[in-house]
Amino acid sequence: MERILVLPGDGIGPEVTREAQRVLEVVGAESGLALEFEEDLIGGAAIEAHGTPLADETVERARSCRAVLLGAVGGPRWDDMAVDVRPEKGLLRIRKELELFANLRPAAVFPALASASTLRPEVVDGIDLLVVRELTGGIYFGEPRGRGEVDGLREARNTMVYDESEIARIARVAFESAGRRRGEVTHVHKANVLEVSQLWMEVVAEVARDFPEVRLDHQLVDSMAMLLLREPARYDVIVTGNLFGDILSDEAAMITGSLGMLPSASLGEGGVGLYEPVHGSAPDIAGQDLANPLAAILSAAMLLEHSLDAPKPAARIRDAVTRVLEEGHRTSDLAAPDQTPLGCRAMGDQVLAQLSGS
Ligand code: IPM
Ligand code: MG
Repeated sequence: MERILVLPGDGIGPEVTREAQRVLEVVGAESGLALEFEEDLIGGAAIEAHGTPLADETVERARSCRAVLLGAVGGPRWDDMAVDVRPEKGLLRIRKELELFANLRPAAVFPALASASTLRPEVVDGIDLLVVRELTGGIYFGEPRGRGEVDGLREARNTMVYDESEIARIARVAFESAGRRRGEVTHVHKANVLEVSQLWMEVVAEVARDFPEVRLDHQLVDSMAMLLLREPARYDVIVTGNLFGDILSDEAAMITGSLGMLPSASLGEGGVGLYEPVHGSAPDIAGQDLANPLAAILSAAMLLEHSLDAPKPAARIRDAVTRVLEEGHRTSDLAAPDQTPLGCRAMGDQVLAQLSGS
């Protein structure tokens, strides 16, 4: 029995993970995978219930499961809280506790959605990139951090710090991924200003020697933000630190049409993988059956592939999503003005219908 911990979280998290779980239940049963689902709290929901965004028991439970399927965390209700107690801290803590240092965020364009992008179709055509984001280090976790007062002025600080082992292991994930794809790694940095980035340049180049079949190039992060708009289809694997990866993965997601389509996998040395849509909790549309569940459903496909070694059922889910889109079904984030959008549940139903027909 493979145990999967579902952490729906806040906002649209519960709606979209519900659809992803339904898809996993159907595909799992048909593929002879014995999946068992458990549910627990994270983020604002956990703050309300336990006074902390992630209870120790939930961490232990996650460790004992094969994989975690997560929705999203955060919302206006907790926006005024200090960073070390707010919902996002629960997400950061589970990533750290499970040592999920490698965050894979694939951004590929579904042909049926090319017109949903804000970029021209000929620019969007052929986008198929993978952002490999370092997830447990850098400025998100560096010490010292905090707020204080110096000479009567409020002051705050964060520290961007990486050691060479953290850089080497994420670089290796990027090169291995590129070896299975188009064989190109673009390392994104700010080495004209930051010592941390200069170390990344050195270490990534050292790791590259073990992967002679993969081409490496380096791109400044500001210039990369621009190139992703100018010629996104040119890039294969982008490897970068935690903060730059956070920013560029939202950009990469949006140019494919909608943030509502992008899945992610967070992997590490502990053996438990965590899967979550890249989009956030979208509190403005939460609880109204308006959310797009496809990023969560595609995250479930990544779970099958990476944690359960089940690439075929994963491919079935992706094919089902592709066909649903080809048939013209759209949630409101994707719908053109003349299209009637489907709700979250109805979109889940369409994916299930495709799966049972295939
Ligand atoms: C993401 C999110 C998180 C991050 C937030 C919610 C803490 O933006 O997964 O990209 O910054 O990592
Ligand atoms: Mg983000």
